[in-house]
Amino acid sequence: MSDLKVKDLRKAFGSHGGIVAVDDVTLEVPQAEMLVLVGPSGCGKSTTLRCLAGLENPDAGVIEFGDQTIFDASRRIAVPIHRRDIGLVFQNYALWPHMTGWDNIAFPLRSRWASREEQRRRIAAVAEVVDLDRRLLDKRPAQLSGGQQQRVALARALVAEPKIVMFDEPLSNLDAALREQLRSEIRRLHEEIRFTGVYVTHDLSEAMALGDRVAAMTDGTIVQIGRPEELFATPATSRIARMMGYRRLCAINRGADRWTSTDCVFAGPAPDGPGPSYELLARPDRITIAAEGTAVPSDHEYRVRGGVVAGVGYLGNEQELIVDLGGRHLRLVVPLGRTFAPGDRVDLTARPADIRAFPLSDKPEHPDTPSDQETEA
Ligand SMILES: Nc1ncnc2c1ncn2[C@@H]1O[C@H](COP(=O)(O)OP(=O)(O)OP(=O)(O)O)[C@@H](O)[C@H]1O
Ligand SMILES: [Mg+2]
Repeated sequence: MSDLKVKDLRKAFGSHGGIVAVDDVTLEVPQAEMLVLVGPSGCGKSTTLRCLAGLENPDAGVIEFGDQTIFDASRRIAVPIHRRDIGLVFQNYALWPHMTGWDNIAFPLRSRWASREEQRRRIAAVAEVVDLDRRLLDKRPAQLSGGQQQRVALARALVAEPKIVMFDEPLSNLDAALREQLRSEIRRLHEEIRFTGVYVTHDLSEAMALGDRVAAMTDGTIVQIGRPEELFATPATSRIARMMGYRRLCAINRGADRWTSTDCVFAGPAPDGPGPSYELLARPDRITIAAEGTAVPSDHEYRVRGGVVAGVGYLGNEQELIVDLGGRHLRLVVPLGRTFAPGDRVDLTARPADIRAFPLSDKPEHPDTPSDQETEA
């Protein structure tokens, strides 16, 4: 049985529905699964989550929690947020500033008329689970660090053992070290408590680390949904491939007797498909760099010539190379073995298994698409 079912969910903003934030989203989350919604800023992740939580009133669609219909636009059903049996964790913690940590955590229990004894028992148990020292519970949010406040918020979301726990970028306000620590603790909590979770993030590593399945969103729609390793290995579109860290190696056009490239000299097998032009993407860690014309392993059937080293940086046991490919910059991190210098002419090679080919359309790329100039690999 699915704990959460969403069908054709739609939400637009503006006087005439000018901005379609969520455009016919359909998804199911089986019990005890953690589903991560990932995508660029503005793609509709938070709006989707807010519709599920009851913080936003969708224009159309059906939402079911277990066998209960929570929302159905055509039947005018809209269960209010406090009767949806959910826990919520936000980026800005959203704690009551005038209440102690203890009272914040107790809040969902009080609204359920739990006895004092039950409150004490549950709060002590959940504080231990989220690793909150008892002494911190007497402090108010302003007296706690960001990480401690988010632990209080986590405890508050879990204390009443809700059917579904929803997270909207809960780690984005924390520094990198704390982010990683809390990320693995949320993973552990999920494995321990087995709640059904919906988790929103724009951070790929968070999505990969936390999602049993990941739903990749662009422009209000879910374009691909699957296990993290599936999205990583077989991204459905070039935008999702870029989200997964792939970068353009080259663009190629079907010629009279062979494939040619406008931005490099290309050799390699033709992509499957009838299209006139494709872009070939690869993850930078799967691209090999060699001095121009030198031999590479025979299974490196793709070879792009005409690269020029534009920048070299040392990263300790690796080096970072910025390679100029006809005006585009590709960032590669390679072992220290061979040294390259700015101005060196190089070839980039890859195995067919590491290349993803996507038909090129005439449409300009979406402004959110990480460009190939981006130095992040
Ligand atoms: N209350 C609102 N009024 C008008 N437009 C809104 C409102 N909330 C969201 N939007 C618009 O809906 C679209 C989706 O916004 P949403 O907050 O869901 O994106 P997001 O994927 O969560 O982005 P981010 O990663 O930046 O948080 C955006 O174009 C946004 O400007
Ligand atoms: Mg958001």
